[in-house]
Amino acid sequence: MKEKTFYIKTFGCQMNIRDSEIMAQTLCEHGYHPTSVMTRASLIVINTCSVRAKAEQKVFSLLGSLRKQKADNPSMQICVAGCVAQQEGQMIIERMPHVDLVVGTQHIYELPGLLVRARHQRTAVNLSDSYEIPRYIPRLPTASEQSQRNGDTAVLSRFVTIMQGCNNFCTYCVVPYTRGREVSRKAVDIIDEVTALVNTGVVEITLLGQNVNSYGTTNPVSEEDTPYPFARLLHEVAKIPGLRRLRFTTSNPKDLPDELIRCFAEINKLCPQLHLPVQSGSDIVLRRMNRKYRIDDYLNMVDRLRTARPDLALTTDIIVGFPGETDSDFQATMDLLERVRFHGSFSFKYSGRPGTAAASFDGKCEESVKSERLQLFQKRQDEISLERNREYIGTLQDVLLERADGELASGRLPTNHIVHLESWPSTAQSGDVLRVMITGAGQHSLKGRAVS
Ligand code: 5AD
Ligand code: SF4
Repeated sequence: MKEKTFYIKTFGCQMNIRDSEIMAQTLCEHGYHPTSVMTRASLIVINTCSVRAKAEQKVFSLLGSLRKQKADNPSMQICVAGCVAQQEGQMIIERMPHVDLVVGTQHIYELPGLLVRARHQRTAVNLSDSYEIPRYIPRLPTASEQSQRNGDTAVLSRFVTIMQGCNNFCTYCVVPYTRGREVSRKAVDIIDEVTALVNTGVVEITLLGQNVNSYGTTNPVSEEDTPYPFARLLHEVAKIPGLRRLRFTTSNPKDLPDELIRCFAEINKLCPQLHLPVQSGSDIVLRRMNRKYRIDDYLNMVDRLRTARPDLALTTDIIVGFPGETDSDFQATMDLLERVRFHGSFSFKYSGRPGTAAASFDGKCEESVKSERLQLFQKRQDEISLERNREYIGTLQDVLLERADGELASGRLPTNHIVHLESWPSTAQSGDVLRVMITGAGQHSLKGRAVS
């Protein structure tokens, strides 16, 4: 029998990256082998993102380009997974006749069975409102999977999904429609999964969810104790022996309780890094976005966070050109940038998404206005990021080495900054934590030398 090989192309956020890992693991357990060459795969899975129109266009153009491969090799299977699959479902099968299977975000665990079904009948499975994320403890990844994922370096850092979905319905955002309502995994399953990963040599875990702060509030996660606040989960996960660094993402500022802020002071393993998307500096825009906090609340949170952990590196997301955004609203975003001086940010032009409330709002901004605002914002953010990075020069930091060979060594600070080393001990290897003097800073990375 011909070998079953798969190739997964992932678009979008960390949730999708983790979902792709889960699909890879389930496929391996069902006799498939990963290949790094898409044209050789007997199964191609495209894990899609629909958060902005551009991401969705990329998916359809990749799918279009696979038409010939499928015509040359009709027995291969093409599967579309992720947010576009969830949202468009059957439409993809109709528009792209060479696609065999469409699997929504809540059905990825069923992939092997669905592939068998799709051999007999082209299939689309997407919507389902009530679901539970299955208990899932990964087995040890094989050497070939590890090297496919990370070149030759060992896997030190992994994502663990703690919840799915979102109940917030920000008016621009498609996620509540593509990932459904919030469902938290059971704490015991998360702890088992992290423990299993740590036992394979992983030292850094990032807990993932669309809005991790509301973990454990919307469905039972522990038989003996509900609700189970996210802060408690952080304390429990941090106790796992062998785990060195703990991170989480993403947090909605509308619910960042003191208890969670205190975790940054109380939990040593919790890294001094937080991604706290603000989206806009204007209260009027925030209200129209349905964000449920005001800029004063946000600034107050930043103060409390920085008091709890003075070395905290704060990053954010910004949308420019939201419907109705005036010059003065945009100026308020620029002012916020000066007040908070984020270590970094991701910024986007507003993109109308089907089914979202803002898609029908008046006052759409011209594309040229959005482009101009985005450019202004990014230029200033780049300057601030460089200034922020320079603040590390002359400081001593712990660097977790991700790579160390004869020629190159690099790793990350607890703040997640990348550091390229100028000198390091010849015995150093990936996974070691070195004491490093920071000697230089660029916009995207730092330079340093190991000190004994
Ligand atoms: N248009 C532009 N940016 C968006 N984001 C989410 N939806 C949209 C949209 N419709 C951005 C937000 C979010 C990040 C993941 O993507 O900033 O925090
Ligand atoms: Fe989208 Fe808002 Fe939910 Fe984040 S909190 S996933 S921006 S709806």
